[in-house]
Amino acid sequence: MPVPSIKLNDSTSIPLIAWGNGTGDAKKTAYESGQVAVKAGIRHIDTAQGYDNEKEAGESLVKAEKDNGIAPNSVYLTTKISTEGGDPNAKGVALEDLRQNVLDSIERLGRQPNLILIHNPFVPPKGKLVEFWRILEEMKDKGELTASLGVSNFRPQDFNELLPHCKVKPAVNQIEWHPYVLTHLQPVLDIMAEHNIVVESYGPLSPLLRHPTGGPIKPVLERIAARLSKETGKDVDAAMALLLWTRAKGVVAVTASGNSDRIHKLALTQELPDLTAEEVSEIEQLGRKIHFRAYDEHMCVDFPAPSLPKDL
Ligand SMILES: NC(=O)c1ccc[n+]([C@@H]2O[C@H](COP(=O)([O-])OP(=O)(O)OC[C@H]3O[C@@H](n4cnc5c(N)ncnc54)[C@H](OP(=O)(O)O)[C@@H]3O)[C@@H](O)[C@H]2O)c1
Repeated sequence: MPVPSIKLNDSTSIPLIAWGNGTGDAKKTAYESGQVAVKAGIRHIDTAQGYDNEKEAGESLVKAEKDNGIAPNSVYLTTKISTEGGDPNAKGVALEDLRQNVLDSIERLGRQPNLILIHNPFVPPKGKLVEFWRILEEMKDKGELTASLGVSNFRPQDFNELLPHCKVKPAVNQIEWHPYVLTHLQPVLDIMAEHNIVVESYGPLSPLLRHPTGGPIKPVLERIAARLSKETGKDVDAAMALLLWTRAKGVVAVTASGNSDRIHKLALTQELPDLTAEEVSEIEQLGRKIHFRAYDEHMCVDFPAPSLPKDL
């Protein structure tokens, strides 16, 4: 079964379901769980300098590809240039250190990543985003870096600073994205749509896992899960229905788990049929009525959240 993928603005393809190792047990067990993920059928792994497990991520792929007869380096691999621990207030990366920083990541991973992101707009020195990006473009020109270039946690003002001056446009923006942040994100999503920049969603399951009640979309997701379970004979749950909604929106879902059963469910999601257009729209309309965000340390800086209720 081919892995569902989407084209980026640099003509490469990215698998729509990614297993991330930046949170929870997945972070602690990047080597073991990374292998479980690939064995289960996931073909996109998301790591970062700030997760302190690039080496384990790279080694897990070598082992999993070998054990499962998958061609070396064929699992899509994303990493990120981070501030320490991803903390926006921690030290970023100086321009003069960036080239070596990226070469060090490649060495830890044991291969070229397919995608490298600026983890958040506070990684480059203040006011130096364009110069920072140019160094990455130059590394690509020289063949020192072959990855697609992308960003993460970028707000409208960050794109407005970068886009008029870059040669290579960011291919993706990895942000917290789910139905309950759509209203807040609209200005940044409009810019991204204009430049064909794909959304990568982290925290895609926040409505179900972190919202205190699950909010207005929970009963809809449960209804869809029951329909799909009946129609496919598979055990489809609300989290899988939410990931299918993410796929229907053409968004890459970056989710995480250190639990083997849940990793297998994540992989199984790739084989499930699409939601109906009515279901997709129902979730979106309900989601837009509230605002609930799990991660506010980057996106809410100088980009205020809308005054919407947290629940209906
Ligand atoms: N760019 C950034 O700034 C940024 C920020 C945050 C995250 N990320 C990336 O995105 C990845 C995912 O982020 P996230 O953890 O917020 O994603 P998420 O998919 O919203 O949540 C995943 C968490 O929920 C649990 N879980 C997963 N499936 C579940 C299910 N069906 N039922 C109940 N619990 C479930 C997992 O715990 P168990 O281990 O117990 O299954 C895991 O800790 C990270 O690992 C990282 O790679 C990037």
